[in-house]
Amino acid sequence: MDPQTATLSPLAGTSAEDAVDASRAGAVETLPLGTPAPLFHSRRDFCLTACQALSLGALAATIQACGGGSNGNPNDPGGGNVPLLSTLNATVVNGAATVTVAGTSLASNNGAALVSSPNLGQLLVVRTGDTTFSVLTATCTHEACTITGFDNGVFQCPCHGSRFSTNGSVVRGPATRSLRAFNATITNGVVSITA
Ligand code: FES
Repeated sequence: MDPQTATLSPLAGTSAEDAVDASRAGAVETLPLGTPAPLFHSRRDFCLTACQALSLGALAATIQACGGGSNGNPNDPGGGNVPLLSTLNATVVNGAATVTVAGTSLASNNGAALVSSPNLGQLLVVRTGDTTFSVLTATCTHEACTITGFDNGVFQCPCHGSRFSTNGSVVRGPATRSLRAFNATITNGVVSITA
């Protein structure tokens, strides 16, 4: 057969494009001196390279999304290790949730605790002064996870990293609403919390 007029016939199970690629793979290409070599020999080469690049990009985005925060720890979306609050149980007396502070983290100023109350649920309690306390719901206003972290006067939710000040206002999202506040008084070392 005249090589000038030869046509490529795909083998069974292969496409015409495969045949062209196979043909090119065996061919010796000659380019004039000074001609830059082509980046891709075929559409297939281009697609393979592009797909690999896209896969790496998607993988990096997935790792960042799953990691949550800058330190990649899903339990700490905000970065850094946030200490967990100590936990206390309240007793209901005359409709108020009561906690005896002696011997607990609430015995000293700036101490805080996660208080479980039969009538008011999970509460964040922080002692803001000798006779003053801030009491907030521990239910995050973002997606209702229980807030368990406290560091440098800031509460932190373990789910997506929202942070709240000791007066309940949002320090960092994704939460956008403040935590509900409760009333608290202290008498004879016993904190009484009411809605
Ligand atoms: S539930 Fe608290 S940050 Fe999402």
